[in-house]
This record gives sequence, structure tokens and C-alpha cells, in this order.
Amino acid sequence: MKPPVRIAVTGAAGQIGYSLLFRIAAGEMLGRDQPIILQLLDIPQSLPSLKGVLMELEDCAFPLLTGVTTTDDPRSAFRDAGIAMLVGARPRSKGMERRDLLEANGVIFSTQGRALDEAACRDVKVLVVGNPANTNAYIAMKNAPGLNPGNFSAMMRLDHNRALSQVAAKIGRPVSSIRKMIVWGNHSPTQYPDLNHAEADDGKVRDLVNDPEWVENYFIPHMQNRGTEVIAARGLSSAASAANAAIGHVRDWVFGTREDDWVSMGIPSDGSYGIPEGVMYGFPVTCSGSAYQLVPALEISEFDRTKMDITYRELMEERESVKHLLLNS
Ligand code: NAI
Repeated sequence: MKPPVRIAVTGAAGQIGYSLLFRIAAGEMLGRDQPIILQLLDIPQSLPSLKGVLMELEDCAFPLLTGVTTTDDPRSAFRDAGIAMLVGARPRSKGMERRDLLEANGVIFSTQGRALDEAACRDVKVLVVGNPANTNAYIAMKNAPGLNPGNFSAMMRLDHNRALSQVAAKIGRPVSSIRKMIVWGNHSPTQYPDLNHAEADDGKVRDLVNDPEWVENYFIPHMQNRGTEVIAARGLSSAASAANAAIGHVRDWVFGTREDDWVSMGIPSDGSYGIPEGVMYGFPVTCSGSAYQLVPALEISEFDRTKMDITYRELMEERESVKHLLLNS
């Protein structure tokens, strides 16, 4: 039997946590032969409801789940963690300015970055889901100087999956036949979903769609605002689809992306595509050997450039407003 992997999940009592933990414990993320220990973090006010989640985990009698801990201390939650899924974040409350939201989350993610630095495995894979995900991931990374920046990522996978589904429906092909979708930039309404490099089994997606007006005036704005549409319909933000995306993100990072395909991840830029080094930006990546690599040298049109710069500028503004929370800045 393999030794267990410790998986830290923050915001574990929340709605994404409720969709995430049971799938992880069933083996959907790390495989059905990998024992795991869940180390669940939430704030003190949420610990009573986290206890209920813990009871339900026990009641499932998952064979792979060899232990569960709950805590409100980030260092305990991250102790020896091989995977850290940072889901918990401060939601925007009524009357709260964007700057205040960035500040509140900046404090959470600088604390958690330091705790990761102190307590987690040196090769821990960190996925930030809690919004603003890219900037939170950037703050955590900057507060963990003892960890390689390549250990950090922000979730763009939900946007990526949304784009795959919309395109598959438009051209009447199964989702599984679509490869090489990209969502560039920030996980926010400025993101740039780009189908120009995407392929289906029988041709370039752009040619199969053959409708530039649909791409520009339907596909891109709808993808950018899909989260808001889900909230309007459900009265709550995306949870099951976000948990599903988080599982896919980590699974591909650990086991590798499929042949002749890539996925979108928010990762620290290596300076490619005119995005300065270190910026936590959504890029196409392949994964192998338990690491991600940015897909290099794709052709970028003037239209792409404009869209990629808009979302880059938003990330710069977010970074500017939290720069006092960054070490080494
Ligand atoms: P939720 O409000 O249901 O749960 C959040 C949980 O985080 C709560 O249990 C809360 O107590 C906890 N929490 C708050 N501050 C914390 C801290 N400092 N440490 C640990 N836990 C803390 O929210 P939900 O729906 O589960 O969403 C979580 C986050 O994920 C939100 O920020 C949401 O905007 C974001 N999100 C990101 C997506 C992406 O694609 N990147 C997609 C969907 C949601």
C-alpha cells in the first residue's frame, strides 16, 4: 500500500468544499490506489459546520481516507501537506469596495503563504481557488520564499471547461474531441477565452465554428460573465463545477495532461507572450513529471494581444493595491 498523501483544503465548510471533499476521498483526484489524509481548515465561526462535514466523511467509510483533521490554524492544516487547495476566501459583503475585498483576502493569503512556507512539503502543489484567485495565489507565492514559485497555481480550469462545453455544443462534437482551448489572464470578467488554437478531431475549431461574429459577440462575453449567469440562475455561485475543475486541475498536474492537448492554469509567467515574469496569469500549460510547463511560441494576433493586455492590466491593478502584503517587493 502506498503511503498516504496529506491534502490540505481551506474553506472546507463552504459550498465548494462540500462538493470537493467527498470526490477527493473517493479517489477521483489522486486515483483509487492512493490513500489520503484530509487536513481541513476553516475559520473559528465555521468549525461547528465543518464538524458536520467531518461526520459525513466518517459516515461514508471511504477505504482510501486514512485520516481527517479539522483546524482553524493554517500551520496545522498545511503540516506536511503534499497538496494544498486554498478554497476559503472572504466573500464580498454589501457595500464592500473592491479594494477592501483585495485587502481582506490579501491578509488571508499572506498568512497562508507564510504557513505553507513553514509547514508544507517542499514539493507541495498549491492550487488557489478563492477569489480573486490569481492575485491571492500571487500573494501566497510571494510570502513563501522557501518554496519554488512553480509550486503555485491559480484556478482557470472552470473557465477552460466552460469554454470547451460551449464550443462543443456550437459545432456539435463531443467535448472529448476538443483540444487546445486557452483561457488567458485573470479569472475574472476580463479573462480572454481563445479558441483560435483549438482543434476538434476533424479540423480547426475556428473553421468549424466559421462564425467570427458569434465568437466575438457571444462566446467571449458569455464566457467572461458565465459565473454571474450561474449566480443569477441558482442564487449561489458555482460550486460543483468549481470543485470538478479543482479536481481536474490537480489530477492533470500530478498525472500529466493528455497527449496532444493542454489545459489552462494560472501560473507565474516566465516572461512568455509579453507577460512579465512572475505575473500569475492564465496560460496554456502541459503537465508531465508532476510539473507544469507553459506552452511556448503560439501565434498571437493583434486581436488576441489587445484582449491579453486588458486582463494583464487588471492583474497589475490588483497587485498594486496589495503590494504592501508582498515580501520581496
Ligand atoms: P463559501 O462562502 O460557501 O465558503 C467559503 C468558506 O471559506 C467558508 O466556510 C468560510 O468560513 C471559509 N473561509 C473564509 N475565510 C477563511 C480563511 N481565512 N481561512 C479558511 N477558511 C476561510 O464559498 P464557496 O462557494 O465555497 O467559494 C469559495 C471561494 O471560491 C470564493 O472566493 C469564490 O469566489 C471562489 N470561486 C472561485 C472559482 C474559480 O474558478 N477560481 C469558481 C467558483 C468560486
